[in-house]
Amino acid sequence: MASNWQPDCWKAHEARHLPVYEDANELSGVEGTLSQFPPLVFAGEARALKADLAEVAEGKGFLLQGGDCAESFAEFHPDNIRDTFRVLLQMAVVLTFASKQPVVKVGRIAGQFAKPRSAPTETVDGVEMPSYFGDIINGIEGDAQARRNDPQRMVQAYGQAAATLNLIRAFAGGGYANLRQVHKWTLDHIGTSPWGEKFAQTADRIGEALDFMEACGVNQESVPQLQGTSFYTSHEALLLPYEQALTRRDSLTGDWYDCSAHMLWIGDRTRFEGSAHVEFLRGVGNPIGMKCGPSLEPDALLAMLDTLNPAREAGRMTLISRFGNDKVREGLPKLVRAVAREGHPVVWSCDPMHGNVIKSESGLKTRPFERILDEVKGFFEVHRAEGTHAGGVHIEMTGQDVTECTGGAIAITDEVLADRYHTHCDPRLNAAQSIELAFLMADMLNLEATARQKQAA
Ligand code: PEP
Ligand code: CO
Repeated sequence: MASNWQPDCWKAHEARHLPVYEDANELSGVEGTLSQFPPLVFAGEARALKADLAEVAEGKGFLLQGGDCAESFAEFHPDNIRDTFRVLLQMAVVLTFASKQPVVKVGRIAGQFAKPRSAPTETVDGVEMPSYFGDIINGIEGDAQARRNDPQRMVQAYGQAAATLNLIRAFAGGGYANLRQVHKWTLDHIGTSPWGEKFAQTADRIGEALDFMEACGVNQESVPQLQGTSFYTSHEALLLPYEQALTRRDSLTGDWYDCSAHMLWIGDRTRFEGSAHVEFLRGVGNPIGMKCGPSLEPDALLAMLDTLNPAREAGRMTLISRFGNDKVREGLPKLVRAVAREGHPVVWSCDPMHGNVIKSESGLKTRPFERILDEVKGFFEVHRAEGTHAGGVHIEMTGQDVTECTGGAIAITDEVLADRYHTHCDPRLNAAQSIELAFLMADMLNLEATARQKQAA
């Protein structure tokens, strides 16, 4: 564990994108309350995820990380949690079945509330006001009162995270994720997509495989993995007072863990030398992600890896590239090479969302699905050329039938974007687009496996 580190060390470092709270006493009262609340996850679970990711770093497995851009208090509903969970399960099934590799499932859920924004203020209906920083900080409603930074929102976010995680744990272990249920996971609205049909075919084949295995004596009783699944949580560790209050010493190892989620990541805007966010995360034992955008130079990346993972522990670091489809083929290779040259064990994951935001003609922010697919393709191409493992994907998605990203097999056009545009921040893939992406990635994982076999022969 990092020496000379305490959960509040970050306060002596440069903290960008942190809210200023008017009333310091109110803030410390909330921090005190949260620090007495039960941890949301147990350190042993974070270590289990790290072990799973260590396998991925070695080329055995794939990381599927996804969920809302920003969870919100308004969209907090069991159906939304279930639908996001089941689309992630469907994607995982498609990827596992096609690639024959284990898929590590991590939600952007149960804590993904705080958002870095490009400007401190924004204009709503002609009135300038503080920007919306996520429901854990202020309200999205366009009035000055709602936009006030309110520390009490952290308590509400904790409550929502706890209830969300409770339901996910129940789904993951209580029978819902049983592979025998695979047909029941299909949502009505993807049934109408060609990919819904393809998913049903995959589900049939899984059913046949399970029947065959059962006839051979392999069933849920003998192999408990068939009954449930492992599912982990993650969010950007942006709001450091919240993260610090949920950081606890593990009673088994004596090490510090941020018990607000299994995995935490550092955003593209807070991953600089001397950053308070880097300082905070360097001291906790969780698996850590770091966003790698076009402005990141190889030397700066290597310096970050030395700070965050000096022991070079496999599974500790996941590097999430987010270049944009037009930059990934040119920008990513130099980072991949530098990391390989220095022998840092990392999972390379692709965020095809944050480099591909455009303003549609209607004025809404969107992400064309073709660009998302193209960035994922570019990511796989780069890793194939470098002989490294394309280890994962990081997406903003929902199980809801939203119209936020244009394109896809059930084509969403500019004209219909406003119909079901519900996101509290960036545009998300809907269920059908998510499944379509999973099938495409399954093909690319197979290409990687073929390339590897050729090399080995
Ligand atoms: C995000 O993942 O929601 C995000 C803000 O991404 P990035 O830090 O890569 O811009
Ligand atoms: Co986002």
